[in-house]
Amino acid sequence: MSSTVLIVDDEETARSFVHGALSDAGYEAIEAGDLAAARQAIKTGAADIVLLDVVLPDGSGLSLLEQIERENPSPPVILITAFGEVDIAVEAMKQGAQDFLQKPLDLERLISAVERASEVVSLRRELALLRKSSQDQYEWIVGDTPEMARIADEAERAAAASVSVLITGETGTGKEIIANVIRMAGPRADKPFVPINCAALPDTMIESELFGHEAGAFTGATKRKPGLMEVADGGILFLDEISSTKTDMQAKLLRVLDERKFRRVGGIHEIIVDVQIIAASNRDLLAMMKDGSFREDLYYRLKVVDLHLPPLRERMADVPALVGSFIRQESLRTGNPVTDITPRAIEALKAHDWPGNMRELRHVIERAMLFCDDEEIDLGHLSPEFQSLISS
Ligand SMILES: Nc1ncnc2c1ncn2[C@@H]1O[C@H](COP(=O)(O)OP(=O)(O)OP(=O)(O)O)[C@@H](O)[C@H]1O
Ligand SMILES: [Mg+2]
Repeated sequence: MSSTVLIVDDEETARSFVHGALSDAGYEAIEAGDLAAARQAIKTGAADIVLLDVVLPDGSGLSLLEQIERENPSPPVILITAFGEVDIAVEAMKQGAQDFLQKPLDLERLISAVERASEVVSLRRELALLRKSSQDQYEWIVGDTPEMARIADEAERAAAASVSVLITGETGTGKEIIANVIRMAGPRADKPFVPINCAALPDTMIESELFGHEAGAFTGATKRKPGLMEVADGGILFLDEISSTKTDMQAKLLRVLDERKFRRVGGIHEIIVDVQIIAASNRDLLAMMKDGSFREDLYYRLKVVDLHLPPLRERMADVPALVGSFIRQESLRTGNPVTDITPRAIEALKAHDWPGNMRELRHVIERAMLFCDDEEIDLGHLSPEFQSLISS
């Protein structure tokens, strides 16, 4: 992707001269004749690099520099000063400008300054992509416990066979993560993965979200709207917190699972879909079946493969592997220099009972890294409750 350079200069001839030179060198360029126009262009994110003249009719270019530095990402600025105004240039560099050029402009210097800035821009883009992908897809740690090895194996088989999966486990045990693992391991990896959090919506909303509705199906339904079920066709529907649905809704879900078809709300025609269902719950569905709040038939229909994720306190042997992975991911994301953890700190972590499971462990590690100036997390970087857990 080529970079777009914003040329801020009040002289029209100067602008078009620079514009031509940049176009010849393969850059896109846009122009602004004063601070106000430049502000506007920067606010909309149109500029990757800013070429900024200091003297402008409505103020000094330096004041724009301040605004630019507050942007995220902030485009690199190349300042253009009158000949001999080195002190202004130095001040601007202190404030975060990347480079400066003096008038009269030397074209060769101009292009090589823009080239350098452009490298900075593409490096940042790459880094942002890297961060995004490592955030989307947290590294999945199986660990050394035989229980987890069995779960990983079953998840793979379920993925390959595209069958319904029911994932249970306490909060923070990785239900959403394993749903993603199943997706990536199966033939539907590049098909839609549509999550719906049943706890966040009332059943009536879930129904119209899932199945869509016809125009006039209810007040406010002015247009026909396809449901997530149709969006997920060929892919996976992830029903998170399925225990939050009422039994009526459960019956409707059962019908889709059984017959692979449904009707839009207010609709007559049946729509046939091919959707793999992955459902997750952090509540005890067996107990809910006993008291009648979860339908038995749906339960058995969902759990063609049944993955129960153990709480962290039952897999303490995996703490070092998990911690190592969290440290790597966090330093990749933030550039934090921490690379390791001491045996003493691990011992303290293993003495805690982790009601929030892996999510809690991740947060504890992220916090420790914040307080750690060395390359190794030690006992002292953990919060006081951990320090009192072991006898020193
Ligand atoms: N096996 C694992 N490997 C690495 N990290 C994990 C694993 N399991 C959980 N985590 C960490 O714990 C966090 C929470 O996991 P996730 O969101 O999948 O939990 P959950 O079971 O869906 O919890 P809830 O019931 O609260 O929705 C993840 O973002 C990740 O940081
Ligand atoms: Mg979850």
